[in-house]
Amino acid sequence: METRIFVVVFLISLSPFDVFSYKINDVQLFQKFEKHLENRKTDLSDVGLDIVQYLTKYNYSVETHEVTTEDGYILSVFRIPSKNNTNNTASAPAILYLHGLLCVPIDWVTLGPDTSLALLTADQGYDVWMLGVRGTKDSMKHTTFNSSQQEFWDFSFHEKGYYDTAATIDYILKVTTLKKVTLVGHSEGTSDSMILAATRPEYNDKINLIVMLSPIAYVGGVISPLILALVKNMEALKLFFENTLHMYGLPYSDSFAEGVTNFCRSNINICIELIKELCGNDQDELDADYLLVFVSSKIGGISLKELMHYGQEIKSETFRQYDFGELGNLIHYGTTQPPDYDAAKITAPVAIYYGKNDYLAAIDDVEKLSNALPNKVDQYLVESDHFNHLDFICSRNVRTLLYDRVLGVINEKNVNN
Ligand SMILES: *[C@@H]1O[C@H](CO)[C@@H](O)[C@H](O)[C@H]1NC(C)=O
Ligand SMILES: *[C@@H]1O[C@H](CO)[C@@H](O)[C@H](O)[C@H]1NC(C)=O
Ligand SMILES: *[C@@H]1O[C@H](CO)[C@@H](O)[C@H](O)[C@H]1NC(C)=O
Ligand SMILES: *[C@@H]1O[C@H](CO)[C@@H](O)[C@H](O)[C@H]1NC(C)=O
Repeated sequence: METRIFVVVFLISLSPFDVFSYKINDVQLFQKFEKHLENRKTDLSDVGLDIVQYLTKYNYSVETHEVTTEDGYILSVFRIPSKNNTNNTASAPAILYLHGLLCVPIDWVTLGPDTSLALLTADQGYDVWMLGVRGTKDSMKHTTFNSSQQEFWDFSFHEKGYYDTAATIDYILKVTTLKKVTLVGHSEGTSDSMILAATRPEYNDKINLIVMLSPIAYVGGVISPLILALVKNMEALKLFFENTLHMYGLPYSDSFAEGVTNFCRSNINICIELIKELCGNDQDELDADYLLVFVSSKIGGISLKELMHYGQEIKSETFRQYDFGELGNLIHYGTTQPPDYDAAKITAPVAIYYGKNDYLAAIDDVEKLSNALPNKVDQYLVESDHFNHLDFICSRNVRTLLYDRVLGVINEKNVNN
Protein backbone atom coordinates (compact mmCIF):
# COMPACT_ATOMS: atom_id res chain seq x y z
CA MET A 1 0.00 0.00 0.00
CA GLU A 2 2.69 2.48 1.08
CA THR A 3 4.73 1.59 -1.97
CA ARG A 4 1.84 2.13 -4.33
CA ILE A 5 1.00 5.54 -2.96
CA PHE A 6 4.63 6.38 -3.42
CA VAL A 7 4.45 5.18 -7.00
CA VAL A 8 1.49 7.38 -7.77
CA VAL A 9 3.09 10.41 -6.16
CA PHE A 10 6.19 9.65 -8.17
CA LEU A 11 4.15 9.54 -11.37
CA ILE A 12 2.40 12.78 -10.49
CA SER A 13 5.69 14.43 -9.74
CA LEU A 14 6.86 13.64 -13.26
CA SER A 15 4.09 15.80 -14.58
CA PRO A 16 5.19 19.28 -15.57
CA PHE A 17 2.05 20.56 -13.90
CA ASP A 18 2.33 21.63 -10.28
CA VAL A 19 -0.74 20.00 -8.78
CA PHE A 20 -0.53 21.98 -5.58
CA SER A 21 -0.90 25.35 -7.22
CA TYR A 22 -4.17 24.62 -8.92
CA LYS A 23 -6.53 27.55 -8.58
CA ILE A 24 -9.99 26.75 -9.92
CA ASN A 25 -12.76 27.74 -7.58
CA ASP A 26 -14.55 24.54 -6.58
CA VAL A 27 -17.99 26.07 -6.33
CA GLN A 28 -17.84 27.51 -9.80
CA LEU A 29 -16.54 24.23 -11.13
CA PHE A 30 -19.43 22.26 -9.65
CA GLN A 31 -22.01 24.74 -10.92
CA LYS A 32 -20.56 24.35 -14.35
CA PHE A 33 -20.92 20.58 -14.13
CA GLU A 34 -24.52 20.85 -12.94
CA LYS A 35 -25.47 22.96 -15.92
CA HIS A 36 -24.30 20.33 -18.34
CA LEU A 37 -26.00 17.34 -16.81
CA GLU A 38 -28.40 16.06 -19.38
CA ASN A 39 -29.29 12.84 -17.71
CA ARG A 40 -29.62 11.15 -14.35
CA LYS A 41 -27.50 12.80 -11.69
CA THR A 42 -24.84 10.46 -10.31
CA ASP A 43 -25.99 8.50 -7.28
CA LEU A 44 -23.07 8.70 -4.85
CA SER A 45 -24.01 5.32 -3.39
CA ASP A 46 -22.70 3.86 -6.69
CA VAL A 47 -19.16 4.70 -5.55
CA GLY A 48 -17.20 1.53 -4.84
CA LEU A 49 -19.76 -0.96 -6.19
CA ASP A 50 -18.33 -3.77 -8.26
CA ILE A 51 -19.90 -4.56 -11.62
CA VAL A 52 -22.11 -7.36 -10.32
CA GLN A 53 -23.41 -5.19 -7.46
CA TYR A 54 -23.94 -2.27 -9.84
CA LEU A 55 -25.90 -4.24 -12.43
CA THR A 56 -27.96 -5.94 -9.74
CA LYS A 57 -28.79 -2.55 -8.23
CA TYR A 58 -30.07 -1.34 -11.59
CA ASN A 59 -32.05 -4.51 -12.23
CA TYR A 60 -29.92 -6.02 -14.97
CA SER A 61 -29.16 -9.72 -14.80
CA VAL A 62 -25.46 -10.52 -14.87
CA GLU A 63 -23.32 -13.62 -15.25
CA THR A 64 -19.59 -13.95 -14.56
CA HIS A 65 -17.65 -16.20 -16.92
CA GLU A 66 -14.02 -17.30 -16.87
CA VAL A 67 -11.96 -17.62 -20.01
CA THR A 68 -8.48 -19.14 -20.03
CA THR A 69 -6.10 -17.93 -22.72
CA GLU A 70 -3.59 -20.06 -24.62
CA ASP A 71 -0.83 -18.51 -22.51
CA GLY A 72 -2.52 -19.29 -19.21
CA TYR A 73 -4.27 -16.09 -18.07
CA ILE A 74 -7.66 -16.61 -16.46
CA LEU A 75 -9.90 -13.70 -17.38
CA SER A 76 -13.29 -12.60 -16.09
CA VAL A 77 -15.94 -11.76 -18.64
CA PHE A 78 -19.19 -10.22 -17.42
CA ARG A 79 -22.33 -10.93 -19.39
CA ILE A 80 -25.72 -9.25 -19.43
CA PRO A 81 -27.71 -12.04 -21.08
CA SER A 82 -30.12 -10.94 -23.79
CA LYS A 83 -33.73 -10.61 -22.72
CA ASN A 84 -34.53 -11.82 -26.27
CA ASN A 85 -32.93 -15.21 -25.57
CA THR A 86 -35.98 -16.83 -24.03
CA ASN A 87 -38.11 -19.79 -25.07
CA ASN A 88 -35.04 -21.44 -26.63
CA THR A 89 -35.17 -18.93 -29.46
CA ALA A 90 -32.15 -18.44 -31.71
CA SER A 91 -29.32 -16.60 -30.00
CA ALA A 92 -29.57 -12.82 -30.00
CA PRO A 93 -26.60 -10.97 -31.53
CA ALA A 94 -23.66 -10.60 -29.16
CA ILE A 95 -21.43 -7.60 -28.50
CA LEU A 96 -18.03 -7.87 -26.86
CA TYR A 97 -16.87 -4.71 -25.10
CA LEU A 98 -13.10 -4.13 -24.78
CA HIS A 99 -12.03 -1.51 -22.24
CA GLY A 100 -9.00 0.77 -22.42
CA LEU A 101 -5.80 1.02 -20.39
CA LEU A 102 -6.47 1.95 -16.73
CA CYS A 103 -10.09 1.01 -17.30
CA VAL A 104 -12.19 -2.02 -16.33
CA PRO A 105 -15.46 -3.62 -17.52
CA ILE A 106 -17.61 -1.61 -15.08
CA ASP A 107 -16.72 1.56 -17.00
CA TRP A 108 -19.06 0.38 -19.75
CA VAL A 109 -22.10 0.64 -17.47
CA THR A 110 -21.64 3.25 -14.73
CA LEU A 111 -23.07 6.17 -16.69
CA GLY A 112 -26.26 4.30 -15.92
CA PRO A 113 -29.35 3.17 -17.80
CA ASP A 114 -30.31 5.44 -20.73
CA THR A 115 -26.70 6.59 -21.20
CA SER A 116 -24.14 3.75 -20.96
CA LEU A 117 -23.56 2.09 -24.33
CA ALA A 118 -23.49 -1.42 -22.87
CA LEU A 119 -26.83 -0.84 -21.11
CA LEU A 120 -28.40 0.77 -24.16
CA THR A 121 -27.49 -2.28 -26.23
CA ALA A 122 -28.69 -4.62 -23.47
CA ASP A 123 -32.02 -2.75 -23.45
CA GLN A 124 -32.31 -3.36 -27.19
CA GLY A 125 -31.93 -7.09 -26.69
CA TYR A 126 -28.25 -7.63 -27.43
CA ASP A 127 -26.28 -10.28 -25.59
CA VAL A 128 -23.68 -8.07 -23.88
CA TRP A 129 -20.22 -9.33 -22.87
CA MET A 130 -17.60 -7.18 -21.14
CA LEU A 131 -14.06 -8.51 -20.93
CA GLY A 132 -11.55 -7.55 -18.26
CA VAL A 133 -8.15 -8.06 -19.90
CA ARG A 134 -5.15 -9.64 -18.18
CA GLY A 135 -3.82 -7.85 -15.13
CA THR A 136 -6.99 -5.87 -14.39
CA LYS A 137 -9.36 -6.30 -11.45
CA ASP A 138 -10.94 -9.81 -11.53
CA SER A 139 -8.48 -10.94 -14.23
CA MET A 140 -5.31 -11.34 -12.19
CA LYS A 141 -5.17 -15.13 -12.20
CA HIS A 142 -2.82 -17.32 -14.19
CA THR A 143 -2.52 -21.10 -14.39
CA THR A 144 1.17 -20.93 -13.35
CA PHE A 145 2.12 -17.48 -12.09
CA ASN A 146 0.72 -15.10 -9.52
CA SER A 147 0.52 -11.36 -9.94
CA SER A 148 3.54 -10.74 -7.68
CA GLN A 149 5.81 -12.49 -10.16
CA GLN A 150 7.71 -10.82 -12.96
CA GLU A 151 6.58 -13.50 -15.44
CA PHE A 152 2.94 -12.54 -14.90
CA TRP A 153 3.56 -8.99 -16.12
CA ASP A 154 5.52 -9.99 -19.21
CA PHE A 155 2.89 -8.72 -21.66
CA SER A 156 1.92 -5.68 -23.65
CA PHE A 157 -1.27 -4.75 -25.51
CA HIS A 158 -0.10 -7.19 -28.18
CA GLU A 159 -1.00 -10.12 -25.94
CA LYS A 160 -4.31 -8.53 -24.91
CA GLY A 161 -5.29 -8.59 -28.57
CA TYR A 162 -3.58 -11.77 -29.73
CA TYR A 163 -4.61 -13.97 -26.79
CA ASP A 164 -7.27 -12.33 -24.58
CA THR A 165 -9.53 -11.03 -27.31
CA ALA A 166 -9.17 -14.19 -29.41
CA ALA A 167 -9.98 -16.52 -26.51
CA THR A 168 -13.00 -14.44 -25.50
CA ILE A 169 -14.44 -14.32 -29.01
CA ASP A 170 -14.09 -18.09 -29.31
CA TYR A 171 -15.70 -18.56 -25.92
CA ILE A 172 -18.70 -16.36 -26.81
CA LEU A 173 -19.21 -18.06 -30.17
CA LYS A 174 -19.13 -21.44 -28.45
CA VAL A 175 -21.61 -20.50 -25.71
CA THR A 176 -24.04 -18.70 -28.04
CA THR A 177 -23.53 -20.84 -31.18
CA LEU A 178 -23.36 -17.57 -33.12
CA LYS A 179 -21.05 -17.29 -36.15
CA LYS A 180 -19.95 -13.70 -35.52
CA VAL A 181 -19.72 -11.11 -32.79
CA THR A 182 -19.59 -7.30 -32.78
CA LEU A 183 -16.60 -5.75 -31.00
CA VAL A 184 -16.79 -2.35 -29.31
CA GLY A 185 -13.45 -1.03 -28.09
CA HIS A 186 -12.34 2.14 -26.37
CA SER A 187 -8.74 3.33 -26.49
CA GLU A 188 -6.45 0.33 -25.91
CA GLY A 189 -9.49 -1.88 -26.49
CA THR A 190 -9.39 -0.69 -30.10
CA SER A 191 -5.68 -1.62 -30.31
CA ASP A 192 -6.57 -5.09 -29.00
CA SER A 193 -9.15 -5.60 -31.73
CA MET A 194 -6.88 -4.29 -34.50
CA ILE A 195 -3.91 -6.37 -33.35
CA LEU A 196 -6.04 -9.51 -33.32
CA ALA A 197 -7.50 -8.88 -36.78
CA ALA A 198 -4.07 -7.97 -38.21
CA THR A 199 -2.03 -10.81 -36.68
CA ARG A 200 -4.67 -13.58 -36.84
CA PRO A 201 -6.60 -12.59 -39.96
CA GLU A 202 -8.86 -15.66 -39.70
CA TYR A 203 -10.60 -13.83 -36.84
CA ASN A 204 -11.97 -11.26 -39.29
CA ASP A 205 -14.53 -13.90 -40.28
CA LYS A 206 -15.75 -14.08 -36.68
CA ILE A 207 -16.35 -10.32 -36.42
CA ASN A 208 -19.25 -8.56 -38.13
CA LEU A 209 -18.24 -5.07 -36.98
CA ILE A 210 -15.50 -3.38 -34.96
CA VAL A 211 -16.63 -0.15 -33.33
CA MET A 212 -13.60 1.94 -32.38
CA LEU A 213 -14.09 4.71 -29.85
CA SER A 214 -10.96 6.85 -29.90
CA PRO A 215 -8.72 4.40 -31.79
CA ILE A 216 -5.15 3.96 -30.64
CA ALA A 217 -2.82 2.69 -33.37
CA TYR A 218 -0.48 5.44 -34.57
CA VAL A 219 0.43 7.55 -31.57
CA GLY A 220 3.03 9.99 -32.89
CA GLY A 221 0.57 12.84 -32.21
CA VAL A 222 0.03 12.19 -28.49
CA ILE A 223 0.08 15.52 -26.63
CA SER A 224 -0.87 14.36 -23.14
CA PRO A 225 1.68 16.10 -20.88
CA LEU A 226 1.54 13.23 -18.40
CA ILE A 227 2.21 10.58 -21.04
CA LEU A 228 4.94 12.63 -22.70
CA ALA A 229 6.65 13.09 -19.34
CA LEU A 230 6.46 9.34 -18.77
CA VAL A 231 7.90 8.63 -22.21
CA LYS A 232 10.70 11.09 -21.67
CA ASN A 233 11.67 9.35 -18.44
CA MET A 234 10.87 5.87 -19.68
CA GLU A 235 14.23 4.18 -19.16
CA ALA A 236 14.76 5.69 -15.72
CA LEU A 237 11.25 4.75 -14.75
CA LYS A 238 11.72 1.15 -15.84
CA LEU A 239 14.93 0.82 -13.83
CA PHE A 240 13.34 2.47 -10.81
CA PHE A 241 10.32 0.18 -10.85
CA GLU A 242 12.21 -3.03 -11.55
CA ASN A 243 15.30 -2.56 -9.43
CA THR A 244 14.09 -0.41 -6.56
CA LEU A 245 10.44 -1.32 -6.18
CA HIS A 246 10.63 -4.82 -7.71
CA MET A 247 7.43 -4.04 -9.56
CA TYR A 248 6.77 -5.07 -13.16
CA GLY A 249 3.20 -3.93 -13.34
CA LEU A 250 0.52 -2.33 -11.22
CA PRO A 251 -2.01 -4.89 -9.95
CA TYR A 252 -5.47 -3.81 -8.84
CA SER A 253 -6.19 -3.80 -5.13
CA ASP A 254 -9.33 -2.78 -3.24
CA SER A 255 -7.42 -0.86 -0.61
CA PHE A 256 -5.51 1.11 -3.22
CA ALA A 257 -8.71 1.92 -5.14
CA GLU A 258 -10.25 3.07 -1.89
CA GLY A 259 -7.23 5.27 -1.26
CA VAL A 260 -7.52 6.83 -4.72
CA THR A 261 -11.25 7.43 -4.20
CA ASN A 262 -10.76 9.07 -0.82
CA PHE A 263 -8.00 11.21 -2.23
CA CYS A 264 -10.28 12.40 -5.05
CA ARG A 265 -13.18 12.93 -2.65
CA SER A 266 -11.17 15.48 -0.70
CA ASN A 267 -9.06 16.82 -3.60
CA ILE A 268 -11.45 16.79 -6.52
CA ASN A 269 -9.64 19.62 -8.30
CA ILE A 270 -6.35 17.72 -8.31
CA CYS A 271 -8.09 14.63 -9.65
CA ILE A 272 -9.73 16.61 -12.41
CA GLU A 273 -6.42 18.23 -13.21
CA LEU A 274 -4.74 14.84 -13.50
CA ILE A 275 -7.45 13.64 -15.86
CA LYS A 276 -6.94 16.80 -17.89
CA GLU A 277 -3.20 16.20 -18.01
CA LEU A 278 -3.74 12.63 -19.07
CA CYS A 279 -6.41 12.88 -21.70
CA GLY A 280 -7.65 16.39 -22.47
CA ASN A 281 -9.19 19.45 -20.93
CA ASP A 282 -12.56 18.24 -19.76
CA GLN A 283 -14.74 20.64 -17.87
CA ASP A 284 -17.91 20.50 -19.90
CA GLU A 285 -18.61 16.83 -20.17
CA LEU A 286 -17.57 15.33 -16.85
CA ASP A 287 -19.71 15.23 -13.74
CA ALA A 288 -17.52 15.53 -10.63
CA ASP A 289 -19.65 13.03 -8.70
CA TYR A 290 -19.34 10.60 -11.57
CA LEU A 291 -15.59 10.97 -11.38
CA LEU A 292 -15.72 9.37 -7.92
CA VAL A 293 -17.65 6.38 -9.28
CA PHE A 294 -15.13 6.15 -12.10
CA VAL A 295 -12.00 6.22 -9.94
CA SER A 296 -13.42 3.85 -7.33
CA SER A 297 -12.47 0.89 -9.56
CA LYS A 298 -8.98 2.25 -10.33
CA ILE A 299 -5.97 1.99 -10.64
CA GLY A 300 -4.47 -1.27 -11.82
CA GLY A 301 -3.79 -3.59 -14.69
CA ILE A 302 -0.88 -1.78 -16.32
CA SER A 303 2.30 -3.63 -17.17
CA LEU A 304 5.59 -1.81 -17.37
CA LYS A 305 6.17 -3.54 -20.70
CA GLU A 306 3.11 -2.01 -22.32
CA LEU A 307 4.08 1.46 -21.11
CA MET A 308 7.47 0.87 -22.74
CA HIS A 309 5.72 -0.35 -25.89
CA TYR A 310 3.59 2.80 -26.07
CA GLY A 311 6.70 4.89 -25.48
CA GLN A 312 8.46 3.15 -28.37
CA GLU A 313 5.51 3.81 -30.68
CA ILE A 314 5.20 7.45 -29.68
CA LYS A 315 8.89 7.94 -30.47
CA SER A 316 8.94 5.91 -33.70
CA GLU A 317 5.47 7.01 -34.89
CA THR A 318 4.69 3.43 -35.86
CA PHE A 319 2.06 0.83 -35.03
CA ARG A 320 4.15 -2.27 -34.56
CA GLN A 321 5.20 -5.02 -32.19
CA TYR A 322 7.38 -4.57 -29.12
CA ASP A 323 10.95 -3.50 -29.84
CA PHE A 324 13.44 -5.79 -28.04
CA GLY A 325 16.46 -4.07 -29.63
CA GLU A 326 18.19 -5.41 -32.73
CA LEU A 327 19.44 -8.67 -31.25
CA GLY A 328 16.24 -9.35 -29.32
CA ASN A 329 14.20 -8.60 -32.43
CA LEU A 330 16.26 -11.10 -34.42
CA ILE A 331 15.52 -13.73 -31.79
CA HIS A 332 11.81 -12.91 -31.50
CA TYR A 333 10.90 -11.93 -35.04
CA GLY A 334 13.86 -12.91 -37.24
CA THR A 335 14.26 -9.26 -38.30
CA THR A 336 16.20 -6.38 -36.76
CA GLN A 337 13.09 -4.18 -36.64
CA PRO A 338 9.80 -5.29 -35.02
CA PRO A 339 7.07 -6.18 -37.54
CA ASP A 340 4.37 -3.57 -38.25
CA TYR A 341 0.73 -4.35 -37.57
CA ASP A 342 -0.64 -4.44 -41.09
CA ALA A 343 -3.91 -2.48 -41.14
CA ALA A 344 -4.68 -3.86 -44.62
CA LYS A 345 -5.26 -7.26 -43.00
CA ILE A 346 -8.11 -5.84 -40.88
CA THR A 347 -10.84 -6.80 -43.32
CA ALA A 348 -13.75 -6.89 -40.86
CA PRO A 349 -16.08 -3.85 -41.15
CA VAL A 350 -14.84 -0.99 -39.00
CA ALA A 351 -16.58 2.12 -37.60
CA ILE A 352 -14.29 4.89 -36.32
CA TYR A 353 -15.16 7.63 -33.84
CA TYR A 354 -12.76 10.31 -32.68
CA GLY A 355 -12.69 13.62 -30.82
CA LYS A 356 -11.34 17.14 -31.31
CA ASN A 357 -9.84 17.46 -27.83
CA ASP A 358 -8.30 14.02 -27.48
CA TYR A 359 -4.74 14.22 -26.14
CA LEU A 360 -4.09 10.54 -26.95
CA ALA A 361 -5.85 9.79 -30.25
CA ALA A 362 -4.86 12.80 -32.35
CA ILE A 363 -7.00 13.62 -35.38
CA ASP A 364 -4.07 13.16 -37.80
CA ASP A 365 -3.14 9.81 -36.29
CA VAL A 366 -6.70 8.51 -36.51
CA GLU A 367 -7.04 9.66 -40.11
CA LYS A 368 -3.73 8.02 -41.01
CA LEU A 369 -5.08 4.77 -39.58
CA SER A 370 -8.43 5.21 -41.22
CA ASN A 371 -6.81 5.65 -44.65
CA ALA A 372 -5.06 2.31 -44.19
CA LEU A 373 -8.20 0.36 -43.19
CA PRO A 374 -9.81 -1.45 -46.12
CA ASN A 375 -13.39 -1.85 -44.85
CA LYS A 376 -14.80 1.26 -43.18
CA VAL A 377 -18.53 1.54 -42.66
CA ASP A 378 -18.56 4.77 -40.67
CA GLN A 379 -16.16 7.50 -39.62
CA TYR A 380 -17.21 10.42 -37.47
CA LEU A 381 -15.46 13.24 -35.64
CA VAL A 382 -17.62 14.09 -32.62
CA GLU A 383 -19.04 17.58 -32.98
CA SER A 384 -17.87 19.09 -29.73
CA ASP A 385 -14.72 21.10 -29.24
CA HIS A 386 -14.26 19.74 -25.72
CA PHE A 387 -14.78 16.05 -26.37
CA ASN A 388 -11.72 14.22 -25.06
CA HIS A 389 -10.36 10.71 -24.70
CA LEU A 390 -12.38 9.77 -21.64
CA ASP A 391 -15.58 11.43 -22.82
CA PHE A 392 -16.11 8.43 -25.10
CA ILE A 393 -17.07 6.51 -21.96
CA CYS A 394 -17.55 9.23 -19.31
CA SER A 395 -19.33 12.20 -20.86
CA ARG A 396 -22.78 12.96 -19.57
CA ASN A 397 -23.78 14.01 -23.09
CA VAL A 398 -22.22 11.10 -24.90
CA ARG A 399 -25.54 9.54 -25.88
CA THR A 400 -26.72 12.46 -27.98
CA LEU A 401 -23.23 13.41 -29.12
CA LEU A 402 -22.24 9.91 -30.20
CA TYR A 403 -23.95 6.76 -28.96
CA ASP A 404 -27.21 7.23 -30.87
CA ARG A 405 -25.17 7.22 -34.06
CA VAL A 406 -23.12 4.19 -32.95
CA LEU A 407 -26.32 2.29 -32.06
CA GLY A 408 -27.59 2.92 -35.58
CA VAL A 409 -24.44 1.38 -37.08
CA ILE A 410 -24.52 -1.60 -34.68
CA ASN A 411 -28.20 -2.24 -35.56
CA GLU A 412 -27.41 -1.93 -39.24
CA LYS A 413 -24.92 -4.82 -38.99
CA ASN A 414 -26.96 -6.99 -36.63
CA VAL A 415 -30.68 -6.42 -36.81
CA ASN A 416 -31.67 -4.57 -39.97
CA ASN A 417 -30.03 -6.84 -42.51
C1 LIG B 1 -35.52 -2.58 -9.53
O1 LIG B 1 -36.69 -3.36 -9.41
C2 LIG B 1 -37.35 -3.21 -8.17
C3 LIG B 1 -38.47 -4.23 -8.09
O2 LIG B 1 -39.22 -4.22 -9.27
C4 LIG B 1 -37.84 -1.77 -8.05
O3 LIG B 1 -38.46 -1.59 -6.81
C5 LIG B 1 -36.63 -0.84 -8.15
O4 LIG B 1 -37.06 0.52 -8.16
C6 LIG B 1 -35.84 -1.10 -9.41
N1 LIG B 1 -34.62 -0.32 -9.36
C7 LIG B 1 -34.22 0.47 -10.34
C8 LIG B 1 -32.94 1.21 -10.11
O5 LIG B 1 -34.84 0.61 -11.38
C1 LIG C 1 -41.77 -16.47 -24.66
O1 LIG C 1 -42.95 -17.26 -24.49
C2 LIG C 1 -43.95 -16.58 -23.73
C3 LIG C 1 -45.10 -17.55 -23.50
O2 LIG C 1 -45.34 -18.32 -24.66
C4 LIG C 1 -44.41 -15.31 -24.49
O3 LIG C 1 -45.37 -14.62 -23.72
C5 LIG C 1 -43.19 -14.43 -24.70
O4 LIG C 1 -43.53 -13.29 -25.48
C6 LIG C 1 -42.09 -15.19 -25.41
N1 LIG C 1 -40.89 -14.33 -25.46
C7 LIG C 1 -40.17 -14.14 -26.56
C8 LIG C 1 -39.02 -13.22 -26.44
O5 LIG C 1 -40.45 -14.68 -27.60
C1 LIG D 1 -35.06 -8.14 -29.50
O1 LIG D 1 -36.44 -8.39 -29.73
C2 LIG D 1 -37.16 -7.24 -30.11
C3 LIG D 1 -38.65 -7.63 -30.15
O2 LIG D 1 -38.81 -8.78 -30.89
C4 LIG D 1 -36.66 -6.75 -31.46
O3 LIG D 1 -37.34 -5.60 -31.87
C5 LIG D 1 -35.18 -6.43 -31.31
O4 LIG D 1 -34.65 -6.06 -32.56
C6 LIG D 1 -34.43 -7.63 -30.78
N1 LIG D 1 -33.05 -7.20 -30.50
C7 LIG D 1 -32.00 -7.67 -31.14
C8 LIG D 1 -30.70 -7.08 -30.78
O5 LIG D 1 -32.06 -8.54 -31.97
C1 LIG E 1 3.71 -15.79 -5.70
O1 LIG E 1 4.59 -16.82 -6.07
C2 LIG E 1 5.88 -16.66 -5.48
C3 LIG E 1 6.79 -17.71 -6.10
O2 LIG E 1 6.16 -18.97 -6.12
C4 LIG E 1 5.76 -16.77 -3.98
O3 LIG E 1 7.02 -16.58 -3.38
C5 LIG E 1 4.80 -15.69 -3.47
O4 LIG E 1 4.57 -15.85 -2.09
C6 LIG E 1 3.48 -15.78 -4.20
N1 LIG E 1 2.68 -14.62 -3.83
C7 LIG E 1 1.40 -14.69 -3.54
C8 LIG E 1 0.71 -13.41 -3.18
O5 LIG E 1 0.80 -15.74 -3.57
